[in-house]
Order: sequence, then C-alpha cells, then structure tokens
Amino acid sequence: MTYTITISLLLLFLIIFIDVHSVLVPQSVDEYPKNPVWTGYLADPYAFEVNGTYYMIGTGLGLSGGTFPSLKSDDLITWNYSGDVLYATKQPDQPDQYWAPEIAEKDNIFYLFYSAGFGEKQHRLRVASSKSPLGPYNDSQSIELTNVTELAFAIDPHAFQDKKDGQWYLFYSRDFLDMDNGYRVGTGIVVDRLIDNMTRLAGVEEVVLRAKHDWQLYESNRTIYGHVYDWYTLEGAAVWQEESGVYTCFYSGSNWQTPTYGVDYGIADSPMGPYIEDSTDRPRITRSKENVIIGPGHNSIISGPDKKTTYIVYHAWNEARTIRSPYISQLEWKTKVPHNSSSGQDLLHVTLVFLFYIIVVLFIFHHAL
Ligand SMILES: *[C@@H]1O[C@H](CO)[C@@H](O)[C@H](O)[C@H]1NC(C)=O
Ligand SMILES: *[C@@H]1O[C@H](CO)[C@@H](O)[C@H](O)[C@H]1NC(C)=O
Ligand SMILES: *[C@@H]1O[C@H](CO)[C@@H](O)[C@H](O)[C@H]1NC(C)=O
Ligand SMILES: *[C@@H]1O[C@H](CO)[C@@H](O)[C@H](O)[C@H]1NC(C)=O
Ligand SMILES: *[C@@H]1O[C@H](CO)[C@@H](O)[C@H](O)[C@H]1NC(C)=O
Ligand SMILES: *[C@@H]1O[C@H](CO)[C@@H](O)[C@H](O)[C@H]1NC(C)=O
Repeated sequence: MTYTITISLLLLFLIIFIDVHSVLVPQSVDEYPKNPVWTGYLADPYAFEVNGTYYMIGTGLGLSGGTFPSLKSDDLITWNYSGDVLYATKQPDQPDQYWAPEIAEKDNIFYLFYSAGFGEKQHRLRVASSKSPLGPYNDSQSIELTNVTELAFAIDPHAFQDKKDGQWYLFYSRDFLDMDNGYRVGTGIVVDRLIDNMTRLAGVEEVVLRAKHDWQLYESNRTIYGHVYDWYTLEGAAVWQEESGVYTCFYSGSNWQTPTYGVDYGIADSPMGPYIEDSTDRPRITRSKENVIIGPGHNSIISGPDKKTTYIVYHAWNEARTIRSPYISQLEWKTKVPHNSSSGQDLLHVTLVFLFYIIVVLFIFHHAL
C-alpha cells in the first residue's frame, strides 16, 4: 500500500515536471528602503561587478566636470562617489543631453553604451571603449550605433550576453507611431544582435515589448512628430537569466517625471523573443507608495556577494522631486506556471493534469487491489 502511494506521488511529480513547465518570475518589491544608497543625482542606475568590486553609473551631471557620475562599493551597502566616466566636449552643433549609460565587458575591454541627443529629441545610441571599468571614456571617440536620419529617437541601450552561447544583444527603446496588434502609440523596446566587438547592430531588429496598458501612459495629447497623440512609454530594459532558457526583460513604464512610473516585466524563451507580458492595471515590480517612495524605476539587476541573491537597483525622486537617487532592494523569485496572457488557460491546464493524475492513480489502485 505505501509502495503504491509512493509510486503514485512520484507519478504526480513526474507529470507536473514534464507537463507544466513552471518558470521563476520576479516578485513585487513591497518594502522600500528609507534612504537611497547615495543622495546625489544619479538616475537610471546601472550596477555591475568586476572582480568582486561593485560599480554603479547613471544619468546626471558629473561632479567633476564630466558626464555620468559613478559609484563604487565592496558590499552593495556603502557606495562612494568615484568620478565621472565620460568626457564629452560641449560644442554648439553637438548633442547636449547624455542619458542612461550602461557598461559591458568583452575580452577585457569595457564598452560604455549611452544615448546622446538635443534636449529630448534626436537621441542616437553611442558606444565608447576603455581598458578600465570606469574609463575614462571619450565621447569624441565613440561609435554611433544608430543613424538618426533613419531612426529619429533611440535611447536606453542595454547590452546583454546570453549565457547559453555567448551571443551579445542590444536592447533599446525607440518610438512607434502605429497601433498594430492593439499596441499603443509611443516608445517601446526592441532588440538586435551586437556584432563586430560591440560596435555594430546586425540590423535585424525585433520588437520586445510595446505599450498595451493604461498605466503605461506617458502623456495625454502629447504634441510629437507633428501630431497629437496619447503617448505611452516603455523604456529602461534590463534582461536577466535567473534560470537557464528563461529571459526576463524588466522595463519601466509611464512617465519618469511622475509618481505613475514603475517597473514591470515580460518573459521569453529566447533573447529575441517573442516576449509574453501579462501586466494589468499597475507596474508589478516597483511602484510609488504614499509617503515612502516616488516613481521608483529604470532598474538594473545584480547578484549579491553570495552570487545567489538578486538585487534590483532603481532610482526614485526625493520628496521635493528635484533629485533622482539610486536605491537597492532584494529581488525575490517564485515559481509560476507560465501564462498565455489569458489566465483561464492555466486553470484549465492544471485541471486537466490533475484529472489525468486521478485516472492514473485509480488505475494503479485498481490493479493493486
Ligand atoms: C580582473 O581579474 C582578471 C584576472 O585576475 C584580470 O585579468 C583583470 O585585469 C581584472 N580586471 C579589473 C578591472 O580589475
Ligand atoms: C569608501 O570610502 C570609505 C571612507 O573613505 C573607505 O573606508 C572605503 O574603503 C571606501 N570604499 C570603496 C569601495 O572604495
Ligand atoms: C578625446 O578624443 C579626442 C579626439 O580623439 C581628443 O582630441 C581629446 O583629447 C580626447 N579627450 C580626452 C580627455 O582624452
Ligand atoms: C544615415 O542614413 C542616411 C539616409 O539613409 C544616409 O544618407 C547616411 O549616409 C547615413 N549615415 C551613416 C553615417 O551611415
Ligand atoms: C574583436 O576583437 C578581438 C580582440 O579583442 C580581435 O581578435 C577580433 O578580430 C575582433 N573582431 C572583430 C570582428 O572586429
Ligand atoms: C485631450 O484632447 C481631447 C480633445 O481635444 C480633450 O477632450 C481631452 O480632454 C484632452 N485630454 C487631456 C488630458 O488634456
């Protein structure tokens, strides 16, 4: 009898294991730290680690006359200012806005990706290189990854290396004016392969995620590209492989200037997608909390000193809403049956699996008796 029960339980696990491919999904951040890890202006924080030292860079006026302030830490807790990473010479015909830098390492060379534009217009993606993580990098020696004549607005580059085969990809945001497939007009996220030692996009762009939900509204009646649109925004892609074969693309939706801004995610089984996203009426990972945090978003993800615990690094506004500073929270993952946007399918699926199990168990008991 015990034997039969053991067999039947083993069967249940086997059926569930084979049939219901559960995935790990990130959980909502519910408790926010009281203070940022650094009180200066450093938005769109990108944290990375080299040989046990943590680094963080972000959007902001440098404190030492450069662009993109940087921080350094041994433990993810205490962060010291560590200079500005980019030299950008101010020239009348040159971009005056530099946004959302990230750094990636390939063959002991560090690559700084960022966008450069005129105000909030004509942003193009650039990459500059250096032999050390915090540079200095030189904007005059950067390579342009997008052609602004062909792509009028590209921001938030995120270089990602697939652990499976070592291939590099570049996720970034661009504008869309169509409403195909029920998408909203606005900024969305795309991906392309990075080739030629990080200096060129392959030119085979795929859509990762586009706006579909009300909470992702950037601005009603926004005048842009010579028209008036209800404009929706998804930006700040950060891709993470918590388990092999599952690609979680974190993004920030809505308007970075307002408390509606927050982080959500989509999931795919290949870096190029397709990505499934089942967001609802609000961002699921970080969001504003009255008297606690304002507009937490534009995140990166990093492993802690134990190489297991994951942390989400994001910015939020100070109370006066004049400064965006970096915050760090632990990020939990939980097992979940994958959704096909309509959750009814999952219930049906689980019910069928359970029915199948009952039939098998009845069959076994019938023969055992
Ligand atoms: C990290 O360690 C490797 C191996 O010791 C070394 O070759 C490399 O230069 C180090 N990188 C940095 C940025 O310290
Ligand atoms: C940060 O600064 C403190 C005080 O100056 C120093 O003790 C510490 O070693 C520094 N940490 C890093 C990672 O540079
Ligand atoms: C940056 O590169 C330009 C062009 O090569 C060069 O003239 C300039 O001196 C460099 N700036 C720094 C600070 O290295
Ligand atoms: C950018 O695109 C325009 C229009 O297609 C083209 O004429 C120009 O040569 C391109 N610039 C570069 C640097 O490739
Ligand atoms: C990339 O860089 C490596 C050295 O770092 C070099 O051997 C290789 O030829 C380069 N590949 C391309 C496509 O530029
Ligand atoms: C947007 O424009 C429409 C049409 O002019 C108007 O009815 C609506 O109130 C506007 N919405 C906002 C939020 O300004």
